[in-house]
Amino acid sequence: MSTRAPDIDPADCGPMLAGLTAPLAAVSTRSADSVNAQIAVAITSASIVLHRPRLIVQIYRTNHSHDLIANSGVLAVNFLSPDQLPLIWELGMQSGRDVDKFEHIPYSTGPTGSPLIPGSFGYLDCRVVNAMDGGDMTAFLVEVLTAQTVGHERMTWRDARPRLPQNWADEWDRKIASEMNISLDTMGAINPSARVEQTRSGP
Ligand SMILES: Cc1cc2nc3c(=O)[nH]c(=O)nc-3n(C[C@H](O)[C@H](O)[C@H](O)COP(=O)(O)O)c2cc1C
Repeated sequence: MSTRAPDIDPADCGPMLAGLTAPLAAVSTRSADSVNAQIAVAITSASIVLHRPRLIVQIYRTNHSHDLIANSGVLAVNFLSPDQLPLIWELGMQSGRDVDKFEHIPYSTGPTGSPLIPGSFGYLDCRVVNAMDGGDMTAFLVEVLTAQTVGHERMTWRDARPRLPQNWADEWDRKIASEMNISLDTMGAINPSARVEQTRSGP
């Protein structure tokens, strides 16, 4: 069996994948003296025990946040509210390697020290309990240490996308095209020691 997945026509799977609800969040972290945050939509609930919430948060390896989270083992998920549209540009279109993203963004901190951004729909302060290497990204399994819902309305990527100024939308299209090329090159490079045992011999 080939280790490389087949090309799938986006027209065949797009309508199904677009139907998966994606939250829009600022994933923040602290490592030593350094704080940073990025935008993420690839976040899912990963616990059936209501009072022990867990999430899986997918962070791409090219991001500065990736190494900070891998080093510190902590992150906070700040679910965005509709009036936080500017954070999509500030946290999602530029890298903490190039700018201090929190120079002009106020924040408080919880147990992990990861920034909690006021005005968010709510936030979850979390620590990493495990991680899966995906080649181009890492899926961090995190458990929630503190949680607070503050706002009344959340913003989804579906709501936000049509509200982006044209130059942001253009920059997003350029950035995602470049990152898709990087992923295509790196998604097969999974650390074998972290590979899930193959139990089926199907196609
Ligand atoms: C709408 C949107 C959704 C995004 N979703 C994710 C995601 O789920 N996971 C991820 O790692 N990066 C995601 N990104 C990309 C990062 O936010 C972006 O690359 C950021 O500049 C990384 O910042 P950093 O280098 O300071 O960590 C998203 C960006 C946007 C604008």
